[in-house]
Amino acid sequence: SVVRVEGTVQLRSSPNPHLPTGKIEVRADKVEVLSLADKLPMEISDPNNTDYTRLKYRYLDLRRNAMLNNLITRHRIVTCIREYLNSNGFVEVETPILAKSTPEGARDFLVPSRLHRGKFYALPQSPQLFKQLLMISGLDRYYQIARCFRDEDLRADRQLEFTQVDIEMSFVEESDIMDLIEGMMVKLFKEVLNIELDRPFPRMTYEEAMSRFGTDKPDLRFGLELVEITDVVRSSEFRILSNAESVICIKVGPSADTPEVSYSRKEIDKLVEYLKPFGAKGLIYLKLGESGLEGPMAKKIDEQTKEKIVDRLGMKQGDSVFIVADKRTVARKVLGELRNVIGRRLGLKDKRVFKFVWITDFPMFEYNEEEGRYETVHHPFTQPKITSYDELKDKENCKARAYDIVLNGEELGGGSIRINTIEMQKRVFEEIGIDEKTAREKFGFLLEALRYGAPPHGGIALGLDRLVAMMLGLDDIRETIAFPKTKSGEDPMLGAPSEVSDDQLRELGIRLMDDG
Ligand code: AMO
Repeated sequence: SVVRVEGTVQLRSSPNPHLPTGKIEVRADKVEVLSLADKLPMEISDPNNTDYTRLKYRYLDLRRNAMLNNLITRHRIVTCIREYLNSNGFVEVETPILAKSTPEGARDFLVPSRLHRGKFYALPQSPQLFKQLLMISGLDRYYQIARCFRDEDLRADRQLEFTQVDIEMSFVEESDIMDLIEGMMVKLFKEVLNIELDRPFPRMTYEEAMSRFGTDKPDLRFGLELVEITDVVRSSEFRILSNAESVICIKVGPSADTPEVSYSRKEIDKLVEYLKPFGAKGLIYLKLGESGLEGPMAKKIDEQTKEKIVDRLGMKQGDSVFIVADKRTVARKVLGELRNVIGRRLGLKDKRVFKFVWITDFPMFEYNEEEGRYETVHHPFTQPKITSYDELKDKENCKARAYDIVLNGEELGGGSIRINTIEMQKRVFEEIGIDEKTAREKFGFLLEALRYGAPPHGGIALGLDRLVAMMLGLDDIRETIAFPKTKSGEDPMLGAPSEVSDDQLRELGIRLMDDG
């Protein structure tokens, strides 16, 4: 309940050092109840409250100090970012929410138009094209704390609507954007967490990240790097090893500067189950004991090969090795995941340690198996790293002028140097099967704008919710958002999404189908 108390503030006869106000008390002369509270629907501080209950009564959940602190820290972070960008000559510009589809790769949220029956706005997946148009306008330093909307499957690090620190600059190279962001992070971590970050942040090509860590989001808080041993096991009698395109492993234990591990057959089976969605068909686990390499599959591997493995990896007593034999892309991916699992189990993911890394030289294109065609890895406005158009034909090797910033194994942001000529933009559309008609329908405004003089430009967008969550050591971005959605995209407090009246639908010219 909310009450008003009039009286005298005085020292307590028995102070309570555990309370911030424990030294004083108010000797009440008059007490007035301003708003009487009912019995609460949940115990506010109960750690076992379900997500649903917490979101249904979010205004009560937010009464907890931890939750209030999250919102206040978020505010401090945004304030600090604004100060930094303002003092560097950036101008904050708002861009439309009722917009048209932009291809960030997710499904659009559509808004039916009443004035133009049968037509729809799309909520922006990002302000990407608007910020490029602003560069063509001559505004050379743009930013926006921008709300973005993507209809995608939700996870701990994803919401349907989320916030980006969106940035674009003219006449820049990759290193200008990287310097700008590093400066921002240094200021932010100093002012908000009193942590000094080292600059420059390490930079690593996509290929290097994939071969050393099996992912383009490497967590650099710990080692456990991937080692390719294809050549070492080539002559093994064990066909799984000798026939595979690629054999890659991770060494864990004393000589890898980690605690010793021991996995039972059952635990390995469980790991394989966990790794299956990433393509794992099996996992060979070997541990160096007194009598050599031991483990569920040890007997199948000939002595000579085992010796060579021990030798190549420089294994010592108590070391273990996890081996995956598969196509190179699969083996890397599986071990990249496994590396994180082991890192977590060994407590190597310290939330108070912050390791940034830039990933550069991404492939420009990737093959979409389902659709049977190539698409761009970043959005199709990204400048390819080429000196002649012919190089666009070499899809597997063509690189993009794109970069991601990764923090502790999570993608914090991504950006690129953009295409600024109509010819290049058309060529790239062509390579990913967007024909001229479609290009005109979807991005006619951009193609037209590119005809009137576009400065070279580039930018980046950081996921603000992720940044705040990581700075606060939280696992779920929802803890940093005042009114987030559940994992199934609902707001139990509002009861959204909800049905609408027949009148509203009629006005929009929409009839619902029975079969959904
Ligand atoms: P991108 O799609 O990589 O780039 O998004 C940038 C960053 O936004 C965050 N993010 C999300 N956060 C929460 N929930 C989501 N559903 C979600 N999706 C993305 C991530 C990601 O790194 N226009 C380009 C940027 C550019 O090229 O300048 C873009 O949107 O942290």
